[in-house]
Amino acid sequence: MDLVVEGRAWYKGKLQHVCIGIENGRIARVKKVLKGERQLDFNDRIILPGAIDVHTHMREPGMTRKEDFSTGSVAAAFGGVTCFFDMPNTKPQSIHRDDVMEKKELASKKSWVDFGLFGGVSDASNPQRIADQVVGFKIFMSSTTGSVLLSEDKDIRRAMDLIKPTKKVVSVHAEDEHLLIKREEASIRDHAEARPRRAEASAIERLAQFSQQNKVNICHVTSLEGLEALSKGAFTSEATPHHMLLDIASCGRKGFCKVNPPLRPKSDKEALLAAFASGKISLLASDHAPHTVEEKEQEFDSAPSGVPGVETSFPLMMALARKERIGLGVLIKAACETPAQLFGLNKGAIEEGKDADLMVLDPRIVTSIVPRNLHSKCGWTPFEGQEAIFPQAVFLRGQLLVEEGGLVGERNGRDVVAKRRVAA
Ligand code: DOR
Ligand code: ZN
Repeated sequence: MDLVVEGRAWYKGKLQHVCIGIENGRIARVKKVLKGERQLDFNDRIILPGAIDVHTHMREPGMTRKEDFSTGSVAAAFGGVTCFFDMPNTKPQSIHRDDVMEKKELASKKSWVDFGLFGGVSDASNPQRIADQVVGFKIFMSSTTGSVLLSEDKDIRRAMDLIKPTKKVVSVHAEDEHLLIKREEASIRDHAEARPRRAEASAIERLAQFSQQNKVNICHVTSLEGLEALSKGAFTSEATPHHMLLDIASCGRKGFCKVNPPLRPKSDKEALLAAFASGKISLLASDHAPHTVEEKEQEFDSAPSGVPGVETSFPLMMALARKERIGLGVLIKAACETPAQLFGLNKGAIEEGKDADLMVLDPRIVTSIVPRNLHSKCGWTPFEGQEAIFPQAVFLRGQLLVEEGGLVGERNGRDVVAKRRVAA
C-alpha cells in the first residue's frame, strides 16, 4: 500500500473510523486497520469523497482576464472540488472538434484537478462529431453570457435527436427565451422580473418531451414553479448555492449578484433549499461564472451576469450540514455520488477501485468567507461573511494537493473522458 489515510470517513453511507489504503491513485482497500508505506492519521477529522462540480465556466480560452484553467482549478481544489466540468460558452465556443481539442490541451496543461468539457450545440452543428471528447452537451434555451441560443423546439429536437445515440447527458439552461422581457434594468429586482419564474417553468415543460429519449439535466433551478415543472419529465436537476442562500434582498452591491437565471424572492430560495435538503435535487453545482470587478461595477444594465462559486460551493453547504439544515448524506449524494454516476466517472465515493479523490474537514472549524482568502482570478465573492467549512486537506488520485491552506503537490489534472477511453 503506497499510502494509508485514516480518519472518520464517509463509508457505506455513514461516518466510520477507517483506514483508506491507496495504491496507484486508487482506493485499494478500506479496513479498520491498514499499514502503508506512508501513513496519514487525521484522527477524528472527517474524510469525504472529493466533490464533482458539474457546472463551471473557467473562461479559457478567450476570457482569461476573468479566470483561466490554472486559477479556476486551484480555486476548485481549495473548495474540495477534485473534478470540474467546464461549459462551452468560451471564445471560441466549444462546438467544433478543433476548438474542443484546443481547449482540452489548455486544460490538460493547466488544471490542478481533473476535469471534463461540455460540448456546445448550435442549430447547424453536429454534436456527434465531438461526442467522444466531451462529458456531456450544453444547450442554452435563452440568451445569456456569450451563449449560442437554441430557443426553438425544432432546433432543440434536432440537437436532442443527434445527441440521442451518443447517450450523453444534455444539461440545459432552461429559461424560455420567448417569455423574457427585454427592457432596461436598474436592479436585481428588475432583473428577476425581466426573467420571470414562468420562463423557467415553461422551458422545463417544453423539455419534458425529450426526457424519455435523452438524459436531460436541468441546470440551476431557482423557483417554486421550476421545481413543480420538474415532475413533468424524467429529469435530473441542479441547484446552486447562490440560489439556495441568496435572494433579491440579500444583495445590494450593484450588479455583483446579477446572474442568469436570477436570484429570486426569499420564499423561492427557501423552497429550493428545502427541495435540496429532501433529496429532490440531483446535483449540487456552483455555476461558477466569474467576471472582473470592473465589469461588475458598471451600470446595472450593462454588467454581465454570473457569480463565482466553485471554491465556496461545498464549504457553504458543509456549514449547513453541520447545523443540520441538510443531511450530510444528502450533500454527499448531490456533490459527489450522483455526479459520478450520472456522468460515468470512477469517482465520487470512498470505495475500493475508485479514484482516491478525498477531502479532509474539521467540522468544528467554521470560518466566515473572506474574498482575499479565495483563489479565483476575479477576486470577489457574493458570499462574503457567510459561514463555511473549508477542507484542510485535499487529495487528487492519492496525491496531496491542498494542506493547511497551502497548495502542495503537482499540477496533474486529467481529462476524465480521455482517461476513461484509455482504461476501456
Ligand atoms: O449568469 C450567468 N452567467 N448565466 C449563464 O448562463 C452564463 C454565465 C456566464 O457564463 O457568465
Ligand atoms: Zn452556467
